[in-house]
Amino acid sequence: MNRPIIEPFRIKSVEPIRMSTRPEREALLEGAKLNVFLLRAQDVLIDFLTDSGTGAMSARQWAAIMEGDESYAGARSFFRLEAVIRRITGYSHLIPTHQGRAAERIFFAIATRKGDLVPNNTHFDTTRANLEYDGVEAMDLVIPEGTQPHVYHPFKGNIDLQRVEDLLKREGPRIPFGMLTLTNNSGGGQPVSMENLREYSALLKRHGKPLILDVCRFAENAMFIKLREPGFADRSIESIVREMFGHADGCLMSAKKDGMVNIGGFIALHDERWVEAARNLLILTEGFPTYGGLAGRDLEALAVGLEEVLQEDYLRYRLRTAEYMGERLKAGGVAIVEPTGGHAVYLDAKQVLPHLGPEDYPAWSLCNALYLEGGIRGVEIGSVMFGKRLEDGTETYHAMELVRLAFPRRVYTQSHFDYAAEVICQLRSRADEVRGVRITRQSRFLRHFTAEFRWA
Ligand code: F0G
Repeated sequence: MNRPIIEPFRIKSVEPIRMSTRPEREALLEGAKLNVFLLRAQDVLIDFLTDSGTGAMSARQWAAIMEGDESYAGARSFFRLEAVIRRITGYSHLIPTHQGRAAERIFFAIATRKGDLVPNNTHFDTTRANLEYDGVEAMDLVIPEGTQPHVYHPFKGNIDLQRVEDLLKREGPRIPFGMLTLTNNSGGGQPVSMENLREYSALLKRHGKPLILDVCRFAENAMFIKLREPGFADRSIESIVREMFGHADGCLMSAKKDGMVNIGGFIALHDERWVEAARNLLILTEGFPTYGGLAGRDLEALAVGLEEVLQEDYLRYRLRTAEYMGERLKAGGVAIVEPTGGHAVYLDAKQVLPHLGPEDYPAWSLCNALYLEGGIRGVEIGSVMFGKRLEDGTETYHAMELVRLAFPRRVYTQSHFDYAAEVICQLRSRADEVRGVRITRQSRFLRHFTAEFRWA
């Protein structure tokens, strides 16, 4: 019999969870206008809203925090982080920001012009919103398998090279650079293969275009390459990561994921191009170039986190967590995106709630039901996040209606996952009781964060 892959850590510090009852949760969700983003975290039992900034730091990271150099300029902590990032990525230039979207805002402001077009496997919501804010078209070109929840492909995050080539021929002058998101968050937390990365990079290069990676979950992507791509089984994670970065000209990072920290981000660039302009904008909106939007102690914790995330035992346990959750849900008849991704499991709300139409926002409704049923908070990746209300009042809907259960790093144990799986399987057996919702209030950008709802 296979032994369980255990959490590769002991717990030194704990945080209590407050138990709640269903009637309590009904009142709390009404108070939050049927939007789980508007709940207080203390009213959530198991918080799978995001894996971003929600991880537990290690004893080594907390120790490093005491070594933070808080000097305004030239802090030792910056050079320590710069050395780690140079080693891991091979990129010379580090521009620290307070989180990923600040890196996006700064980079897009200096590297794009209104009317440009940027291809990606799938732009995450903040990436898309930051591009659109600058008048740039954000185009998703993931392979067809990437949008079919029940089709198996080992690298569902791959970009469709044929469509990229057609686009480069048709729209070349509008494209300042190509992007690729590792792993592909919105499309199911799915990895990109080294082969796809290499060929995309070569294709862009033939057309004189640089490649910028969105690397929030680069280590998880590398572990998938090691486990699934021929020729990589015996390679170290560090060498796989180095090769991944080597195919690109720079990266945007939200360190709140694979940086293993609660806040942080950066831009790292291979050559001089863009660096000066990015630093000037950084000074204007984030801070001096050697701290960006962060404190010296944050830079220290990140330097350690980037080393810890490359440990194979950690990554094996990490990917196994999602896989285990997926196995339990499938055994209970719950439709999920397959295969499971690195940081999350995605429930297919159209399948779980077949009685709801797009106007009922099925994924949003499933999210609410999970909270009511067991105090679990997930996030909708569907028509509230990606649909739009047009000027004339009509609604556009997203092709997939998914609920993402994203797993904070090193926070929950197997019994938390067992509990969550049990709750979801029970909910499935009474799925026909789940009601749809209607939007009563919304904003123009990133409406899911603040929208208000009523029951349909
Ligand atoms: N790119 C990807 C692929 C992301 O998943 C995120 C954040 C960002 C960029 C932006 O980074 O939050 O530090 O500003 N994703 C979080 C999530 C919010 O829940 O998946 P940020």
